[in-house]
Amino acid sequence: MNLFDVYPLHNITITRARGSRVWDDQETEYLDLYGGHAVISIGHGHPHWVQRIEAQLEKISFYSNSIRIPLQEELALLLGNVSGKQDYQLFLCNSGAEANENALKLASFATGRKKIVAFSKAFHGRTSLAVAATDNSNYRAPVNETGHVTFLPFNDSQALHDHFKDHGNDIAAVIVEGIQGVGGIHIAENEFLQTIRACCDKHGALYIADSVQCGYGRSGKFFSHDFAGVDADIYSMAKGMGNGFPVAGIIIHPKIKPKHFQLGTTFGGNHLACAAALAVLEVIASEQLIGHAATLGQWLMQELEKLAPLQQVRGRGLMIGFDVPETLGPLRQQLLTKHRIFTGEAKPRVIRLLPSLALAKSEATQLIDALKEEIASYSTTQPI
Ligand SMILES: Cc1ncc(COP(=O)(O)O)c(C=O)c1O
Repeated sequence: MNLFDVYPLHNITITRARGSRVWDDQETEYLDLYGGHAVISIGHGHPHWVQRIEAQLEKISFYSNSIRIPLQEELALLLGNVSGKQDYQLFLCNSGAEANENALKLASFATGRKKIVAFSKAFHGRTSLAVAATDNSNYRAPVNETGHVTFLPFNDSQALHDHFKDHGNDIAAVIVEGIQGVGGIHIAENEFLQTIRACCDKHGALYIADSVQCGYGRSGKFFSHDFAGVDADIYSMAKGMGNGFPVAGIIIHPKIKPKHFQLGTTFGGNHLACAAALAVLEVIASEQLIGHAATLGQWLMQELEKLAPLQQVRGRGLMIGFDVPETLGPLRQQLLTKHRIFTGEAKPRVIRLLPSLALAKSEATQLIDALKEEIASYSTTQPI
């Protein structure tokens, strides 16, 4: 049997990892500023995370949601404290798409409505509703074209007002990333998120904050949507939540009441996933990683802004993007093959930095030095 070939691959086999470093099968060391797509939040193989999972594995790794799982309650409590959303309710699942799927479905249950508003360049996942709300027709199969999702221009409050004026009574939810990730690191402006809140309140729709990539402290606040100073009705979370252990969830405003069997999952919230998620939050709190992400991210963006040919440095905390002009050639590839630095990308020519929140300043400096070298070598060979 062959693998179903849907991923373009780097010809690299990673065999071990620690902190922000990974090593391949030739023992070549790489700096990981990609985190497997924003997943590594507290650092690869963090000792506390390993110990928590190992200890749980010795006790019990899985039982279904038909029994009490006190670890889930422990997780809900700690998540409430670290995120500041103490009065919200937690539903656990397994991936970002599943989290958004549940968020959208719950909004439809709660409002009795079918219409969803999403935005240009949005990415919300690959399952049916999540992909229907994703602004990329290549990812949507004919069966995903439900006709229930309207895409409006991102950060356009007037368009949102106008759409609500005409269709407000049909809209179940507005779903928005606080910082678009796959779309190329674009921040939702505070005023735009405040407008979403106001329109939803006025017309009885729900505001879903997709925090799968921009959440869990990466932006320098627990949820990047918090910069706007308004609360969403549902926050979806995944990626950094388990530091590589598959765990995801939504937190739900107390005004939305649960009903038995409305949502459900076999694996979601299993013992092992809860242990991993608890370990992540414990490390985020004890190592003050949210503050660290804010400070180091600010420094890194300032340094990147000094590198003249790089354009439009943007982001918050350790979720950073910049445009690479054509004249700099295959910069991302050079960083990987020559400087042994993993970064992320977005089309057409955006480099995305999504490192561990525990990234050291010396490691961030390694990137700046590599970029300086590349820029210097290009400016001697080509006009910039
Ligand atoms: C903002 C956002 N939402 C949802 C998802 C889907 O998450 P998953 O791949 O875990 O299903 C992603 C994944 O990149 C994402 O960036």
